[in-house]
Amino acid sequence: MSVTTDNWEQVQATARQVLGEEVVAFIGLCRDEPNPESQLIAVLHKVQAQYGYLAAAHLDAVAQLMQIPAAKVSGVASFYHYFRLQPRGRFVINVCMGTACYVKGADRVAQKLMDELGIRFGETSTDGVFTLESSRCLGTCGLAPVMMVDNQVHPEVTPDQVPLILEKYLDVARRESQAESGA
Ligand code: FES
Repeated sequence: MSVTTDNWEQVQATARQVLGEEVVAFIGLCRDEPNPESQLIAVLHKVQAQYGYLAAAHLDAVAQLMQIPAAKVSGVASFYHYFRLQPRGRFVINVCMGTACYVKGADRVAQKLMDELGIRFGETSTDGVFTLESSRCLGTCGLAPVMMVDNQVHPEVTPDQVPLILEKYLDVARRESQAESGA
């Protein structure tokens, strides 16, 4: 692909700061493909693997480097649910909404989590501690309804148990933050 931007050096320097050398090098390879635009999803995966989510600055830098309209890049990023547009919290809560869990009250557990955290699926709490996600089956249907917090399975969860479960992880996050600040 030929370079069409007058300030190309500046674009690359800014992109390196935002995306890092490795991602910029990967985009360079993609730009050499016959149809660079077809590599956009692969590029976004690479950015998310590196940074955990796709920030607006990441998307702008990708658009500039790949010479793709910014609206198209952000449209693709928001269309696919596996792309995250917000940073993940310290803990990721995954509520199973599969059939076995749903019939045993997973929707009430999910609602209680949303009420307690003030967020919906796909969002992160304002304190950055929890990200709330859902899945179709966590493979432990005999323990329904199930939620996972990172890799920890919480079986047969009831809405009443939710505050206590959250408090346990909040306590870990508080202790970590105190240790980091040397308190
Ligand atoms: S449906 Fe929830 S674990 Fe399978």
